[in-house]
Amino acid sequence: MAPVTKPVQGQGSTAGRKNSLTVRDNRTDREYEVPIERGAIRATDLRQIKISDSDLGLLSYDPSFQNTASCQSAITYVDGEAGILRYRGYPIEELAEKKTHLEVAYLLIYGHLPGKSELEEWLHNITYHTMVHENVKTFMDGFHYDAHPMGMVVSTLAALSTFYPDSKKIRDPALRELQIHRLVAKIPTIAAFAYRHSVGMPYIYPNNDLSYTANFLTMMFRPSWTIGYDPDPVLAKALDTLFVLHADHEQNCSTSTMRTVGSSLSDPYVCSAAAAAALYGPLHGGANELVVRMLQEVGSKNNVPKLIRQVKSGKRRLMGFGHRVYRSYDPRARIIKKVSDSVFSVTGRNKLIDIALALEKEALSDDYFIKRRLYPNVDFYSGIILQSMGFPTDIFPVLFAIPRMTGWLAHWQEMLLDPEQNIARPRQLYTGHRERSLPGETKKPG
Ligand code: CMC
Repeated sequence: MAPVTKPVQGQGSTAGRKNSLTVRDNRTDREYEVPIERGAIRATDLRQIKISDSDLGLLSYDPSFQNTASCQSAITYVDGEAGILRYRGYPIEELAEKKTHLEVAYLLIYGHLPGKSELEEWLHNITYHTMVHENVKTFMDGFHYDAHPMGMVVSTLAALSTFYPDSKKIRDPALRELQIHRLVAKIPTIAAFAYRHSVGMPYIYPNNDLSYTANFLTMMFRPSWTIGYDPDPVLAKALDTLFVLHADHEQNCSTSTMRTVGSSLSDPYVCSAAAAAALYGPLHGGANELVVRMLQEVGSKNNVPKLIRQVKSGKRRLMGFGHRVYRSYDPRARIIKKVSDSVFSVTGRNKLIDIALALEKEALSDDYFIKRRLYPNVDFYSGIILQSMGFPTDIFPVLFAIPRMTGWLAHWQEMLLDPEQNIARPRQLYTGHRERSLPGETKKPG
């Protein structure tokens, strides 16, 4: 839709102008002035625009929330045009290089980087809560042998709600913090148990002497017949960097789900189960799994043009490409490309990387992708790295859920403390039948 009015030449500057929007309703010839705050108008201000007293007022229609801010947030800043991502104001590039995932988790949740004693206490709290109740194992045993690990993780997160009834007291700051510790600490244990169950191997308990990712790698891969297992520090570091990159991404589908479910004051276990369910989908956290499957199917660089043709003819999507917010290169994808070098120095080069690089080159010089501003996103290279590290493709979305838990919790807490937030309840434009009679019955008059 073209703008109705254009700025008069020479009057493009906003200096000295009112920070408001004047709306003229051509149905009634009335004009309204709507304030603009932070580059947005309040959707409820539109309700005053009516054609009669009985009219409920104008709604804004925004399927899939393409242009609707549902909250004010101080956690993560994304500029999709410029390819910028910052957590609490710190550029993602610096955090990925210089900070650990648990430091970044603290930053997201508490709003500042931890000082020495804050970090010690935080690490103590997270390691202290890594164990899960023994009944969780029994619960896991109930899953079919070929259950998808993400399905197991979603269900187990919800089940934790039944273990911690104190989590219902979401208005109690100390109890809220306790659940945050539990969730950040336990999700790697649950993830590793889900994997061990799916391959029929005994569960490995957490080792609290190890770092967050070294412990996770040990719970995943330690053979059951030995206690001697040293995860490679280069791989543990690479995984930690991937965790930093995946920790938060403002109001994405799973985080919005966390906020929506949390807005009805549900406990954080069921909220994060719902968020993980949203992450599970192929358009969100399931994409890295599908990227690897797609690259395996392509099989060789020579088949890249065929795949591009299929994508352009609308037969399929290029997984790991495109993003609702980024209309330029996803800064996380750039960092992940570098991480792949360190991983391959340990594991050897994954041949899928060459197909991926060829695919990226071909796509970025093709009009279809240029016109639509489709670039590689975070998932394009992450799956290849994870596969090289020995993770089966099924578990990739779970490896996204582990770090994203910290972002979900930061947003959940911010939402609860925001006096403007209330139960999430979108409106609709009803398109169904008006009142009608059941078959065989005639409508009573009046
Ligand atoms: N391959 C081919 N065409 C695409 C792709 C793609 N990956 N993504 C978007 N398009 C096309 C789409 O067909 C449409 O074309 P047209 O205008 O001719 O109809 C245009 O680009 C705009 O697409 P859209 O679906 O309106 O864009 P969106 O912002 O709603 O979708 C997306 C964002 C991530 C769902 C989409 O790009 C996609 O499906 N990508 C593949 C899945 C993927 O990699 N997901 C991971 C996202 S990053 C990690 C995360 O945060 O979860």
